[in-house]
Amino acid sequence: MAKKLELTPRLQLLADWVPQGAKLADIGTDHGFLPVWLDLQGRVVSAVASDLRKGPLERAKETGRIYGAEHIDYRLGNGLEGVFPEEADVIVIAGMNKVEDTLEAAINRARTVAAPMNKQRFPNQTPCEVTGKCGDCKAEGCICNQILVTRNCNPAGRIKIILVGEELGL
Ligand SMILES: C[S@@+](CC[C@H](N)C(=O)[O-])C[C@H]1O[C@@H](n2cnc3c(N)ncnc32)[C@H](O)[C@@H]1O
Repeated sequence: MAKKLELTPRLQLLADWVPQGAKLADIGTDHGFLPVWLDLQGRVVSAVASDLRKGPLERAKETGRIYGAEHIDYRLGNGLEGVFPEEADVIVIAGMNKVEDTLEAAINRARTVAAPMNKQRFPNQTPCEVTGKCGDCKAEGCICNQILVTRNCNPAGRIKIILVGEELGL
């Protein structure tokens, strides 16, 4: 018999927001606990569990295998890349360590912290890839040529951002 999966309070909070019959995309799935639990509960009709890195994606697959989840598609990818719009009506991007106080600080983080790290995976000699620091470039292979800002949620309530100001564990 498959093991029973119990979520931590933080992940349970997220799971409770997912409506019955959702098509889920869990971006940055890591351990994969959320999509696996939702699948086992029959809460989702399908789930894409996606991660940027192979290690975490393998962890998610292992979670799915151990607990017997059957409706999850595991994908390696950056953010929503590789998830077709019709595949997901609920998108979870969970993890608090990337929240900034202002839009300016968020854009600055995307360009000077996230982009140089991300660029290591797509070698084509941009300044940040070579030096590890933002070169404020306009190079062909620049990874921060576009930065998406969601100014307004339409229809209202479609996007939910839950900020939990306490340590709730994994
Ligand atoms: C802190 S873990 C969060 C895991 C899970 N979502 C949770 O809330 O427990 C962050 C995960 O996001 C992945 N990640 C980071 N940047 C990503 C990106 N641009 N696209 C997809 N996954 C990403 C990391 O590899 C890591 O596995």
